[in-house]
Amino acid sequence: MTAQEQADLAVAELRSTWAGEPDGVWTAPGRVNLIGEHVDYNGGRCLPMALTRVTAAAVRRRDDDRVRISSSDPDAEPFEGTLADLGPGEVSGWAGYAAGTLWALQQAGVDVPGLDVSVSSDVPLGAGLSSSASLEAAVALSAAELAGRNDAAELRHLLIQAAIRAENEVVGAGTGGMDQTVALLAEEGSALLIHTRDFRTEPVQLGLAEAGLELMVIDTRVKHTLADGQYAKRRADCDEAARQLGLEWLSDATPADVDRLSDPRLQARTRHVVTENQRVDEVVELVRAGRVAEIGPLLDGSHTSLRDDYEVSAVELDVVVEAARAAGALGARMTGGGFGGSAIALIRAADAEAVGAAVVAACRERELTLPGILTVTSGPAARRLS
Ligand code: GLA
Repeated sequence: MTAQEQADLAVAELRSTWAGEPDGVWTAPGRVNLIGEHVDYNGGRCLPMALTRVTAAAVRRRDDDRVRISSSDPDAEPFEGTLADLGPGEVSGWAGYAAGTLWALQQAGVDVPGLDVSVSSDVPLGAGLSSSASLEAAVALSAAELAGRNDAAELRHLLIQAAIRAENEVVGAGTGGMDQTVALLAEEGSALLIHTRDFRTEPVQLGLAEAGLELMVIDTRVKHTLADGQYAKRRADCDEAARQLGLEWLSDATPADVDRLSDPRLQARTRHVVTENQRVDEVVELVRAGRVAEIGPLLDGSHTSLRDDYEVSAVELDVVVEAARAAGALGARMTGGGFGGSAIALIRAADAEAVGAAVVAACRERELTLPGILTVTSGPAARRLS
């Protein structure tokens, strides 16, 4: 579906649920992370790219202080409240991402008006492709623009911080900021190198099509509930390791530091962070040298590290990664937070069908949920469509 078609669905939703015409429609993309996993909250480097799949928000400014939020997803209950009750503990469920973003914008000094918001999205939910950050980013940009803010680079950084705050404090989910940053700062046709210490970004052109390659996303359609709390546990491990090493950021650890830790679990977590940052740097170097076809082993190394040292993979992810490689993928890894969600595979365009079929067959043989397969290209950041 195109962004415009998604926008049309959001407008139809605004008309049917809130009986209104929008003042504008904004979209923001989901993302897939090429490499640099679980390093964003450690002051490291990651290389995600925005998808062409988006969340669209049709938004109408109101004259009072009411806020109403609905979604074209029939499972998503509409939310109604006022500007004063959007904060922590006040909104539950999916609407918390949108309401929480409006709350965080107010906290940051943005004069958010009363709003009717209707959204529609084709970023798959729970697939590790940041449907939540796309919702936050679309709502954040719409509210800021309707509050009279100009869409400048500084504004986008403020919106990133508001979206992170909404997710951490209102929804109660951990996020290191990679997803919100790429949703708001991506450049179409490129991946985005994010230095997460200060959220400085650099576009990196992958040149996949020129090299006859494609990026395949394999959605396992599984989310293990044991994941609840595991993200926070990994962050706590990293904070503890950094504390023991006397570092502000664990990404500043050296390979020698790993041996200075006595707890084997903290050693393993730190080894992942150290080696993952190195792999990001090597990928960026290869890509910039026009050698994207050679990054496969680094993707493979990332998966092994996430599986064995960081312990955030899942059997479904391991099976699809193995199957993709066996069918000719140049490299494959889990992507996103882990414990289910999606994997990526770097493939030759000519192998797309064979790799997709092999992955599905491997899941069928293991009696796992059958995965969804998408080939993705890099889309633009959050923007106003109309
Ligand atoms: C989730 C979080 C991100 C990042 C990844 C792992 O997607 O939202 O901030 O930590 O997990 O790399």
